[in-house]
Amino acid sequence: MQDEFVFDSLYSISSGVVQWRSPSNIALIKYWGKKPVQIPSNSSLSFSLSKCFTSTKVSFKKNNKKGINYQFFFDGKKKPRFENKLDYFFEKISKYCPYLLKVEMVIESSNSFPHSSGIASSASAFSALSLCIMEIEKLLNPKLEKPFFFRKASFLSRLGSGSACRSIIEKFSVWGKTDLISNSSDFFALPFNLKIHNSFNDLCDTILIVDKSEKEFSSTKGHELMNSHIFGDARIRQAKSNLSLIIEAFESGNYELFIKVVETEALTLHAMMMTSNPYFILMKPNTLKIINSVWEFRVKENSKLCFTLDAGANVHLIYPKSEQDSVQRFILEVLSCYCENGKFINDMIGTGPFKL
Ligand code: DP6
Repeated sequence: MQDEFVFDSLYSISSGVVQWRSPSNIALIKYWGKKPVQIPSNSSLSFSLSKCFTSTKVSFKKNNKKGINYQFFFDGKKKPRFENKLDYFFEKISKYCPYLLKVEMVIESSNSFPHSSGIASSASAFSALSLCIMEIEKLLNPKLEKPFFFRKASFLSRLGSGSACRSIIEKFSVWGKTDLISNSSDFFALPFNLKIHNSFNDLCDTILIVDKSEKEFSSTKGHELMNSHIFGDARIRQAKSNLSLIIEAFESGNYELFIKVVETEALTLHAMMMTSNPYFILMKPNTLKIINSVWEFRVKENSKLCFTLDAGANVHLIYPKSEQDSVQRFILEVLSCYCENGKFINDMIGTGPFKL
């Protein structure tokens, strides 16, 4: 138990409404593999997006029923499918937020991006919900300070979905204890506090929707397979070395090094999936066609465009804003035919969550 996060004030609760919006994030150094309870096998680094977010409203009122009582609505409709994950989340956080046992909640959530776009929504969803929970805690303890508010929100988010703890933070965020970054923690994410060269301050992320169907293989299952993975230890060493290299690239502005690390991380993530037991493949033929086209474009146009992948077939194109026009032309002329119904989402590095 993380003692710092146990709520022990005397409190009384009546009713209220809280509301937060929180973004999705894209990892450059991937979190893949964890130990109980939601402790990452390696540190990860990501940036928060701007346009892909979840908005969540929690209305609560006093209640004397046993346990956690809530109703969950997504886009105005009940979603029993999400309730297992939410039940498990509330079970894990109730010792840190005992006030939730004294209320009944109506949770209403919606995403800015289409649900069936293959974009993982657990990061934005759990971070938005955790921020709402912290807002309730703040009503009970108005003296609660801002750094603690966000640290605990990240801590709670992590217990819902690992990558969600990074969404609490604006721009670049690091999760997982490492000697390379002071104050880093396995329990919550922190802002990346080392030097970042100007070239990385306006990164764009265009998400090419290659396959919008639901994932056949959950990330949680993939993480689990890393514990008995034949290349598990080597992957942990590689992630550490890649983190150190990306820190070097951020500091010096070495874009070539940045590209090498980002693409290595994406391909290793999928290589781990293909070599686990059981093995599985989430890339689709069009994912590979896009990757090859990006490589050709980069050489031909002397461009800084690179790609990363999540646990799915979609491709995230990462590039500096200065290349926006040429990359958009390239997408329309070459890449959009590899996307389902020609769909892609233009996003960029964002300023983190905010209270509605
Ligand atoms: C490939 O955070 O979705 O996106 O903790 O089981 O909910 P759980 O997993 P999740 O894993 C995300 C993995 C990834 C890489 C990353 O975001 O770092």
